[in-house]
Amino acid sequence: MKTWRIHLAGFGTVGAGLWHHLESHVDLISRRTESRFEITKIACRDPHKATSRGAPADRITTDLLSLATDPGAEILVELIGGIEPAYSLIKTALLNGKHVVTANKALLAAHGEELLTLAAKQQRHLLFEASVAGAVPIIKAIRESLAANKILSIHGIINGTCNYILTQMTEKNLDYATALAEAKQLGYAEADESLDVDGHDTAHKAIILAALAYGTWADEEKICVEGIRNINRLDLDFAARLGYSLKLLAIIQSTDEKEIDLRVHPTLLPQSHVLASVKDVFNAIAVRGDALGEALFYGRGAGALPTTSAVAADLIEIARNPTPTPTSYKPSHAKLKPISEVISRYYLRLNVIDRPGVLAQISSILARHQIGISSVIQPKGHEGDWVPLILMVHDAQEAAFQNARQEIETLPIVAPPAIVIRVEDFE
Ligand code: HSE
Repeated sequence: MKTWRIHLAGFGTVGAGLWHHLESHVDLISRRTESRFEITKIACRDPHKATSRGAPADRITTDLLSLATDPGAEILVELIGGIEPAYSLIKTALLNGKHVVTANKALLAAHGEELLTLAAKQQRHLLFEASVAGAVPIIKAIRESLAANKILSIHGIINGTCNYILTQMTEKNLDYATALAEAKQLGYAEADESLDVDGHDTAHKAIILAALAYGTWADEEKICVEGIRNINRLDLDFAARLGYSLKLLAIIQSTDEKEIDLRVHPTLLPQSHVLASVKDVFNAIAVRGDALGEALFYGRGAGALPTTSAVAADLIEIARNPTPTPTSYKPSHAKLKPISEVISRYYLRLNVIDRPGVLAQISSILARHQIGISSVIQPKGHEGDWVPLILMVHDAQEAAFQNARQEIETLPIVAPPAIVIRVEDFE
């Protein structure tokens, strides 16, 4: 039976999870692969913490980069996250002929094209199933199972922390800060919480999915990325009255594979849509393909065991197929659609003076920009008080809608800022 020796970088929640999983699944793995996996070195910043989590002291090193050159393993598993030193570690490991398994979505979003090209040149695996949606096998699905499809769209709830926070705010009436603290305690959130709540983690994962679907590695700076930090309970309540749920959505779509609409923002979805029922830390990705029709991939997107499940599956893939086939995507020159050209419906919440004629002034600005109103909620207040006014508007181009919004904000009867949430009706 072959023994695959592994150097493991990082012994946090997932690293420790992988160690214990491989220990407890020796029989299952050997039955399925006719191999065994042995973690021969573990690099971590705090050896004391690692031993307290079960790492054997004699395998621990603090010299991270030595893992890449040390000939004592054929595989490097990188679970430290972030760009550096992960980038140097993986690049050097590939140059030294090692296969690499990583969960590092930030690194792949920034350097995926270069590292995958290097891995192909070195004829080594660079596998990253754990980088998007934890245990949900979406990377393999797009790369392999759906390889014969033209991908029409991908709509994903792919950040467990944000989905957890939004669910707790909606269903348990928790405030944002309490829900975030719970997500951290449960081990879902990134060390830097801004990666989660400001949408960057979702963007990194969306960039990876877009690269697999369309062959283009987008620059995060060039796409619309908005998070959930400023979501107000009021909007969750008004959205529910209008029949919508709020989710942080990654939207990746193209009709011709020449221009890609790729964006991340809070989105209102009809409560009847399947993605609206995805709660807590669960992730879900709805994929439409020209032959496939629609498919939904659903499961736990964060946490030690779900992520370990995906990392261990990549190790099994290496054991079963030690010589990688060429990558299933080829770089393309598709361009990104600017957000200003995107057509969407919008939810607009204004703070207005309760007085006759207010709605007429606002609707005439929208009409001048060719934007129609589909519904209005105007809770009753006392004449002269400031009250919320909620408008749902029909399809409009982002640039025209934002111009109208700016004009509306200058009206003396409106107290800025206007709250804008894009709406996806899946029609
Ligand atoms: N912080 C990430 C999330 C972890 O909440 O989804 C998994 O990538």
